[in-house]
Amino acid sequence: MYIALRWTTAVVLLAGSLASPITQAHGDVTPQAVDVSTLKPLGDKLLEENPYRGDKEAIRVGASAYTQNCARCHGLEAISGGMSPDLRTMDSDKDNDKIFLEATLHGRARNGAVYMPPFQGVMSQEAVWAIRAYTESRPKEEQASSGNALDTLAKKSRCNSCHAVDVRGVSPAYRDIAKKYAKDKNAPGKLLAKLKKGAQGAWGKMPMPPVDSVTDEDLKALIQWILAGAN
Ligand code: HEC
Ligand code: HEC
Repeated sequence: MYIALRWTTAVVLLAGSLASPITQAHGDVTPQAVDVSTLKPLGDKLLEENPYRGDKEAIRVGASAYTQNCARCHGLEAISGGMSPDLRTMDSDKDNDKIFLEATLHGRARNGAVYMPPFQGVMSQEAVWAIRAYTESRPKEEQASSGNALDTLAKKSRCNSCHAVDVRGVSPAYRDIAKKYAKDKNAPGKLLAKLKKGAQGAWGKMPMPPVDSVTDEDLKALIQWILAGAN
């Protein structure tokens, strides 16, 4: 399929072609080994919670490991350019620790398309937790948030790690999406189908990975909320 092919191309670009302007803009492509010799060793069994939270030395090691391995997609100093989730939005708790470790070791792929490469084999769990300690230590920006049920759902569904209500990164702001579809009666149905398949090209070159962990009911509610201005 045409669209599927275009995604694949974009994803190859994302996942590390040397010629890609993204990787050039953000530096190194080859995964860089991380020196964890100054950190408390953790053994082979994967932990469920970040043992280094708040540890100054881990934050220092994590900052450098992050800059070399993650910044080109997740943004310099963990300030997301919007093409990949803003890791600062992941709360400091066990659930998010688990997601962080798994996503980093295994990467993220759906239907054969790689949105993020796996770091297993390149990085020890010490390195991953050090990076987590670093991203947790970064100040979060205040974003417009009404704190209502739908805003909370958008956060829980991990939409807000790429999107903001009124700030456009590489991902469109909810209010710009609302403006664009203000006169389109068919928008809710179209957008639902799009989100489930993944989207690209309507706002820019950055693809949005298919949303596969949110129920249709929640997605419909989120789309309605976005189209109404995300208040
Ligand atoms: C080639 C680009 C790329 C690189 C390099 C990359 N990521 Fe990602 N990462 C992504 C994309 C895109 C997603 C979202 C994919 C999705 O939604 O399935 C993601 C998702 C994640 C998530 C899950 C976030 C969530 O809210 O579910 C974590 C955690 C993460 N990345 C950590 C890292 C760390 C740590 C590094 C460096 C060691 C890294 N990533 C390097 C592109 C990248
Ligand atoms: C990994 C980053 C990322 C995540 C996570 C993400 N989005 Fe997106 N989203 C994007 C990008 C990039 C675009 C622009 C795609 C394009 O140009 O077609 C987009 C586009 C959209 C659009 C507009 C589509 C169009 O065709 O105009 C809507 C609506 C949307 N996202 C809603 C959501 C919702 C709801 C969630 C959570 C369930 C979500 N997004 C999660 C990055 C993301």
